[in-house]
Order: sequence, then C-alpha cells, then structure tokens
Amino acid sequence: MSSNSKYYVVPSILSADPSALWNDVQEAIEAGADGIHIDIMDGHFVPNIAYGILTIEALRKRSSIFLDVHLMVQEPENLLKGLVDAGASNITVHIEACNNIIKTISEIKKLSAQAGIAINPETPAEKITQMLENIDLILVMTVYPGLPAQSFLPSMLPKIKEIRETIKRLGLSTIIEVDGGINTETAKLTVEAGANMLVAGSAIFNKSKSTKDSLNELRNSLLGNPKNC
Ligand code: DX5
Ligand code: ZN
Repeated sequence: MSSNSKYYVVPSILSADPSALWNDVQEAIEAGADGIHIDIMDGHFVPNIAYGILTIEALRKRSSIFLDVHLMVQEPENLLKGLVDAGASNITVHIEACNNIIKTISEIKKLSAQAGIAINPETPAEKITQMLENIDLILVMTVYPGLPAQSFLPSMLPKIKEIRETIKRLGLSTIIEVDGGINTETAKLTVEAGANMLVAGSAIFNKSKSTKDSLNELRNSLLGNPKNC
C-alpha cells in the first residue's frame, strides 16, 4: 500500500450508500483514499450484519485499491481463503473471536494476504504483544464494534500509546490502525498517540459534505503531526 501522505486514510463503506456502493467507493478513490475498509459482520460476534465475500469480489473487479477487510465474525477461519480469492489485500480478525489466533494469522499469511489483529476496547495491549512481529497491523477499536457513527472513546488513547512504544522498542514497522468515531478532532488525538492508519466511515460518507471535501478535511486536520512509523 502506498500513500502520498504520512498517514493512511481508509474510508469505511459501512457509511456508504449500499444502493450506490461503487459510486461512493469510486469517489473516495478519486479523492485519494489509501484503501477501502470493508466491515464484515456476522450478527453473532457483533449485533449487526454487514457485507461479505461478494462485496470484496465486486469491488476488486473494478479497482486494484488496497481492500482492508475487518472481520467481525466469530471463528472466521473458514472464510479466509474465500476472502483472499475474492481480492482482499488485508484481513484483520478479532483476537476475541478466534480460538487459536496464532494459527489464524499464519493461515492468512500462507494465503499471501496481509494480516491484522483487532482488539476491542476492553482488551488490553498486552494481549497482542507476543503477536506483533507476526502481523502487518494492529487495529485498535476506538468504539465497541458493530455500528457506524458512534462516539470515539478517548480512554483508548493510552492503549495506542502503549502499543506504539512496544512497536518502537521491538524495532517493528507494524501499522497501528484505529477504527470508530474518527473525525477531524479525534484523528489528531490518535496520531499524536501513535496511530498511522485511520478508518473513517461517517466522517467521509455523509450528507453534509462531498466525499472529496470530507477526506481532504480529515487529512488537513493531521497536517503538522509527526510521522508515526
Ligand atoms: C464499526 C466499524 C467501523 C465503522 C466506523 O464497528 O468497524 O469500521 O464503519 O464508523 P465511524 O467511522 O462512523 O465511527
Ligand atoms: Zn471496521
């Protein structure tokens, strides 16, 4: 994944218009999105259902952009191959949803996709320390997963900071992605804490501004912040 800027911004299609999905995604790509974040929900791990392998396949047919798949699915192991075959660039699984996280991550790697681990707000940073060198990204949920447009949880900032310090100490280049309640105010707080990949749904796809203006505003809110890498 390449980016012209210091941070990766990946719009989440959970807030896009499902009846005009490609139009919304195309606008985001043209506006300079670094990837597209696709939330897949099973109605079990989270109390909502969203998207699936067919969505990945449909978007991949139209674009070569980085497809960042966030699986909010209990025991996601059986879906991995289908997702990679459909065109997923990265697959992020929740540590809380996997019986054997080490095995799940190694399966994603074997399929030649990038691998990420997501942690819910109540899951401490220490849970993933041992895994950091085996993954491409750690996704810190900054809301409880399942719904768009929730309020950012500032109590997650020390956790982001702690993970950034561990990554530095271990000399790794693991990406810290944040997801939930990211907007022009909270994005800045997360990058100051150490995040370098920002998921934004309702802040990008909304009725008050164009996708392009929303994305530019989010990027501009980060100007002047040091690069986290
Ligand atoms: C929520 C999803 C998010 C969601 C974020 O569980 O994982 O990706 O789209 O939505 P916003 O940015 O509106 O909080
Ligand atoms: Zn997500």
